[in-house]
Amino acid sequence: MLSITLARSTTQRNLANRTMTTTTTADRLADARAALDAVGQGHLLAQAEGLSDEQRERLLNEVECIDWPEVARLIESHVRQKPAFALSGDVAPAPFYPAKPADDAQAEKYDQARAAGEQLLRDGKVAAFVVAGGQGTRLGWDAPKGTFPASPIREAPLFQLFAEQLLKLHAKYGAVVPWYVMTSPINHAPTVAFFEEHDYFGLSPEDVMLFPQAMMPAIDMQSGKCLLAAPDALALSPNGHGGSLKALYASGAIADMKQRGVTQISYFQVDNPLIDIGDPLFLGLHRLDGAQMSSKSLPKRDAMEKVGNFALVDGKMSVIEYSNMPDELATQTDADGNLEFNAGSIAIHVIAVDFVASLNEGEHGFSLPWNRAEKKVSFFDGAETVDPASPNAVKLETFVFDALPMCERSIVLETVREDEFGPIKNAPGDGVQDSPDTAKQLQVDRAKRWLSHAGVRCDDGSWVEVKPTTAVCADDLEKLDLPARIEATSRVVI
Ligand code: UD1
Repeated sequence: MLSITLARSTTQRNLANRTMTTTTTADRLADARAALDAVGQGHLLAQAEGLSDEQRERLLNEVECIDWPEVARLIESHVRQKPAFALSGDVAPAPFYPAKPADDAQAEKYDQARAAGEQLLRDGKVAAFVVAGGQGTRLGWDAPKGTFPASPIREAPLFQLFAEQLLKLHAKYGAVVPWYVMTSPINHAPTVAFFEEHDYFGLSPEDVMLFPQAMMPAIDMQSGKCLLAAPDALALSPNGHGGSLKALYASGAIADMKQRGVTQISYFQVDNPLIDIGDPLFLGLHRLDGAQMSSKSLPKRDAMEKVGNFALVDGKMSVIEYSNMPDELATQTDADGNLEFNAGSIAIHVIAVDFVASLNEGEHGFSLPWNRAEKKVSFFDGAETVDPASPNAVKLETFVFDALPMCERSIVLETVREDEFGPIKNAPGDGVQDSPDTAKQLQVDRAKRWLSHAGVRCDDGSWVEVKPTTAVCADDLEKLDLPARIEATSRVVI
């Protein structure tokens, strides 16, 4: 592993630097008190004197990682009042490249793009980046989500499936695709332990970097006070996947990419076993069009599907979350009855390394809009732990797609749902979408499509898994020695 660094903002680093010049815990405590008193959060250290040295150290470490002036600003704008989302400006559907080229000229462009994408992979210019800092509460899996057994027959965990794709890309293109894994302080240690227990799934540890994102305190909805989880711990949660754009930089990942000559980051979420990490067409279109951050889209299942909507807002590429999308826009249709805003966001991006660097190196830094979520958060009230029955706290997160309007150029490539999107979000249950069961079925169905493309007959009822080390696309199966037929009762791993 390259290194593990706690992601900190500039202000956070300033506070930490200040504490480096002071030596005693008493001095650190005084500094932290001053920072908290200045923003009306002094209650967090009210019982610090009564803690053991170890507990006080732990609490101070957490306090020093938070940008308190920013938290104070957000309490005013997002807790004491609910920020009203106002869709202002000119809103139009975003243009996108269709999954299948529309005409001969576009087909030619797709061929050129595929060649350009393959060249990027051959030249070692592509890194993989998975955001895996979320809490995964909906799935009810009591471990990092990437450790979840996801494949249909081997039950290979998500992290293993991604690692196997990277091994295949290395074998296919002759260049390493280094892997950056964003965790959060909540799941960092078990994630690192999982990689170590599994010998990095056959990858070289030098080519894998795990780093935690930053955290935000949960804030009491009524009083605007930050909550303690325990006498020696703040109630903290990850600051949203938008935090990845700062964590990539603060952790040294961007510097490491530059040193390796990597120019493009393939960004994906930990919950999608169908992800195509090294898609030459997507990489190549992004590169040929000189985009800074690009996205894949899906035709929405229906007008109200709970995915973000790609739109041009005042000419700038944007994603409007479904919760912010006015119904009259979501349901608007063209003359043929097709949805105008039909391109749904599935959180798959290619991001230029220089773009992330430039955001972080700007004179005034950068900030993404914050989003308010009302949640039930257990807290320590000075005497005991309280488990609230209804939402009592505000959690604040930023979203990575809110960096899209900061791009000079951004493209969207439509993809085919059943080929690339089978997220595991919900616990299994009858009729539940986006569950482990639906994701397994999608993996089997795709494997069968790939096999039939290679001439294999798969009977109904058969159950097939194609290992990513064998194939990352249908064409990879073509020259292999495959069975002619897979019978209905068979369970086959290829
Ligand atoms: C997200 C998108 C939605 C998209 C869907 C596709 C948002 C607000 N919505 O929804 O538009 O259609 O994915 O699957 O993002 N994560 C972190 N750190 C955090 C929070 C999240 O790393 O602080 C990671 C998670 O580990 C996960 C990913 O981000 O890999 C998505 O998080 P999640 O909260 O599950 O997003 P969704 O609500 O499913």
